[in-house]
Amino acid sequence: MTTVERVRLVGEGVDRVDGPLKATGAARYPNDFNLPDMAHAALVRSTVAAGRVRGLDTAAAESSPGVLAVITHRNAPSLGHGPDTILSTPPPPLQHDRILHYGQYLAVVVADTAEEATAAARRIKVDYDEAEALLDMHDPRAEVLVDPFKTDSDRGDAESALAAAEVQFEAAYTTSENTNSPLGLFTTVAAWDGDTLTVHDSTQWPGNVRTALARVFGLPENAVRVLAPFVGGGFGAGLRPWPHVVLAALAARTVGRPVKLVLSRPEMFTGTGHRTASEQRVRIGATRDGHLVALHHESTTTLQMEGDNFEPCASGTSYAYACPNLRTRDTQVRLNITWCNSMRAPGEAQGNFALESAMDELAYALGIDPLELRLRNYAEEHPGLGLPWSSKALRECYEVGAERFGWSRRDPEPGSMRDGDQLIGYGMAGVSFFWFQQPCQASATLREDGTALVRSAVTDIGTGTYTVMTQLSAELLGLPLSRVAFELGDSDMPEGAPAGGSGLTAGLGSAVQSACHNLVRAFLDIVRHDHTSPLRGCEVDEVAVADGRIFRMGSPGRGESYTDLLAAHGLHELTADGAATPGTSEELGIAPAGAFGAKFVEIRVDPELGTLHLERVVSAIDAGRILNEKTATSQILGGTVGGIGMALFEETVTDRDTGRIANGTFGDYLIPVNADIPDMQVIFVGRPDRFNPVGVKGVGEIGLVGMSAAIANAIHHATGRRLRSLPLTIDMLL
Ligand code: MOS
Repeated sequence: MTTVERVRLVGEGVDRVDGPLKATGAARYPNDFNLPDMAHAALVRSTVAAGRVRGLDTAAAESSPGVLAVITHRNAPSLGHGPDTILSTPPPPLQHDRILHYGQYLAVVVADTAEEATAAARRIKVDYDEAEALLDMHDPRAEVLVDPFKTDSDRGDAESALAAAEVQFEAAYTTSENTNSPLGLFTTVAAWDGDTLTVHDSTQWPGNVRTALARVFGLPENAVRVLAPFVGGGFGAGLRPWPHVVLAALAARTVGRPVKLVLSRPEMFTGTGHRTASEQRVRIGATRDGHLVALHHESTTTLQMEGDNFEPCASGTSYAYACPNLRTRDTQVRLNITWCNSMRAPGEAQGNFALESAMDELAYALGIDPLELRLRNYAEEHPGLGLPWSSKALRECYEVGAERFGWSRRDPEPGSMRDGDQLIGYGMAGVSFFWFQQPCQASATLREDGTALVRSAVTDIGTGTYTVMTQLSAELLGLPLSRVAFELGDSDMPEGAPAGGSGLTAGLGSAVQSACHNLVRAFLDIVRHDHTSPLRGCEVDEVAVADGRIFRMGSPGRGESYTDLLAAHGLHELTADGAATPGTSEELGIAPAGAFGAKFVEIRVDPELGTLHLERVVSAIDAGRILNEKTATSQILGGTVGGIGMALFEETVTDRDTGRIANGTFGDYLIPVNADIPDMQVIFVGRPDRFNPVGVKGVGEIGLVGMSAAIANAIHHATGRRLRSLPLTIDMLL
């Protein structure tokens, strides 16, 4: 086995800088903001999935105690449309009487207290002209969107190559709808001051909410400020400016008071997006010795009636393996369902389940070890672009993961490994995660007391952004951690990238690097013609920083401290801006690589009872440079738990008659508990990535991916049963 170089770590294992604030309750989440004279809003949701509002009786609600306003489509003002970013803003609420999904907002009630608003909302009577809802993805009346993401790919001649292949394999896989329901109930607190609007919001992208609200209410962007210094989880649910955010601001404007709107848990299940269901078909042509010659992957996913959802499932297959002939197809079917939206590893989570299950099936068909089959088809370069990867240590993931797991102890024969009455299963899956990065800006300020403040309008959804950006800034400015503060969560700060797609650390890190370099350059500028300064005439690439000083590279004695430089030039502080836009593969001559990973799981199945117990999970991950091994490990552990949920528990059930979400509460929607979670080990391998200057690839989502295939493959190994439909439940094992 190859020796894996240790990745250069910055501040390995540094504790979260915001940990004490969270542990003591000092961190303020949107829900914690209470403004003087604040009123409260409650929502009325549609109880049908399609049709029109025929009658709305609001009289009882309007005369209820404490009620200040009842807003419906009948009295709501005309509102504008938010921006069409990668995750577009849903159309503004209360603009018409049409119902497109169960849970659509039909009214907002504003009252002095939350209890009064909720009680009054319950007294609103809605009559519907109900229409037959489209709820089945095979309904011939449903609109089908072909290649909606423009990601379909073709290489070589996939049809002929499949027909001519020595070995042909085909199977269909399905995944269910899942719902991301972060623990922190999404809250919006909206306050108007004349024509300016300030909003505290549960969002993963404050700048997007600001732009959306500005357009909806016809305001200049600088008249809207969105604050989200702390958010109680995201997982993709906070990436869009949802209609409830608009309703909170509308309610506040209507009553002329600040308004707080807190979604209930059932409202979270209908109002903040969910993972699509998928039906996929994989066809593989291979040689008898296990070389892929043709790869076909088709996917159909669900989509709400209006608006978009960027979630390709099949296209990830185009770069997962070296295969000369390939065809991927993604389609979406519009249904009367609640909004589909990114949920941790959108598309990749479903697509990987199909591909990595199919690879396991092919391995059995050929009599080749599943890990060996993957190595035989290793994509040394990006198969679509024909360029070297910006970094790829998937081979090390396989090798180090297999070694740590003890894959060589596996007897490949299904049902051959036992522990008493229990069947033992070993399963694995490989992961080639997508690359995603958005433009980002930041600013860096050095103050006369020798401390630095670095800022960007991003969020930390609990993943460690505050911490790793404090570490990175400290390194780039040559300051101890304790002298650096990183601030975020305010749309008035430099424009931030979304905390999504596992792309924030790369995008924001690049912007922070730019800002810190520009700040050092600004210090050099003030001594550019200063004959007394040892730094006179220095360029930024000729200096290094450490211990609060800038000095000539290689000559630590020839430099000056930030504080001396400020004092000598009569400055209280110096600020520089930074910006980063992701490069392109054309410019850089390399293919952008997302993270890579290998998952190994051991399970026990009781064949009499159908129960499945996870014994252990090993995750070997190449995410480029790891800024903080402690928080990155936590990300992979959390993602792995999410993957266990997707594999074994999670299923958003829509009643096929009414379109109602039948299990939209934490009492009904199954997620893993501690007893379901086994020993989990995380190993990072690889080296800094070359596509961004910080060298990171992001760890937010890859922990989830591969878990469902690895578990399904382990089930096959334990029992001989091939399960192709998520979640994998007890009834399938009996
Ligand atoms: Mo993630 S699903 O992009 O928050």
